[in-house]
Amino acid sequence: MKEIRRAENAGFCFGVKQAIEKAEKAAEQNPGEIYSMGSLIHNERVTRDLEKRGIRVIESLDEISAPGTVKDVPLRDATPKVIIRSHGEGRALYQKAEERGIVLIDATCPFVARIHHLVNDTDKQVVIVGDRNHPEVLGISGWCRKPAVIVSSYEEACEIPEDDLFVVTQTTIREQMLRDVLQALEEQGKNYQVNNTICNATSKRQESCEKLARESDLMIVVGGRNSSNTKKLYEISKKNCANSYFVENIEDLPLKEVAKCNRIGIAAGASTPECTIKEVIARMSDVTLENNELNMNDLMDEI
Ligand code: F3S
Repeated sequence: MKEIRRAENAGFCFGVKQAIEKAEKAAEQNPGEIYSMGSLIHNERVTRDLEKRGIRVIESLDEISAPGTVKDVPLRDATPKVIIRSHGEGRALYQKAEERGIVLIDATCPFVARIHHLVNDTDKQVVIVGDRNHPEVLGISGWCRKPAVIVSSYEEACEIPEDDLFVVTQTTIREQMLRDVLQALEEQGKNYQVNNTICNATSKRQESCEKLARESDLMIVVGGRNSSNTKKLYEISKKNCANSYFVENIEDLPLKEVAKCNRIGIAAGASTPECTIKEVIARMSDVTLENNELNMNDLMDEI
């Protein structure tokens, strides 16, 4: 008997979901074109869909060269509106927007906004555990009262000269990275206060993908090719089920494998839209039905 099962935690996390909803609502309510600071999520289908609704991706407010124009494209509404994605932004962007009369639609994930408040409320030396190039980390450091120290390993944490530290984490790092950094601080005899601000949406997706992969003879991991959290899920899946496939949409589905296998699992990254997951499930269910029909025909032939 064929069975298609979906990982318990798959698809949009809370923060991404609310960012997309805010963007869609903004596009609906604003007659003029609006922008997002960077892609709202790493998924081409969603980005294209938002573009169709009039949301353009910009990397800096400077791209809005004069009120009402961006890259020489005239706007219907003279007041530029910019969506801040779930990763958040530093305080400087809010100030710049205010100076230039740009309206911000803030879709910063509340878990990230909480970190902004934490670092902005302390006089201690802030240490951010995470990837120094990640937009979320850049945003957090932009709310610190003095320049933050950013570390991502035991070795880097051993080099921190300051004492009396206030530690926060990027929401998507693995617990092990924080444990390594804290071990280094202990060994260096530092005084520190820790705020574990890791969000469990990522780890929940990884755990449920791993569990399902162990129980499946075919795993389909759905998500954008440039989505790092989906890539990570695929790695986990492949380790636990050699017959794993990374698919962006139904065109990528390995239909012969789908027809052959009985225990099929589906996992999806935090940036994978529900409609893509549903399409993949529906296509695989069709193949299952077609396959059953084939089997029936074979049986009829045999009789
Ligand atoms: Fe927010 Fe966690 Fe998603 S911090 S954006 S709910 S991964």
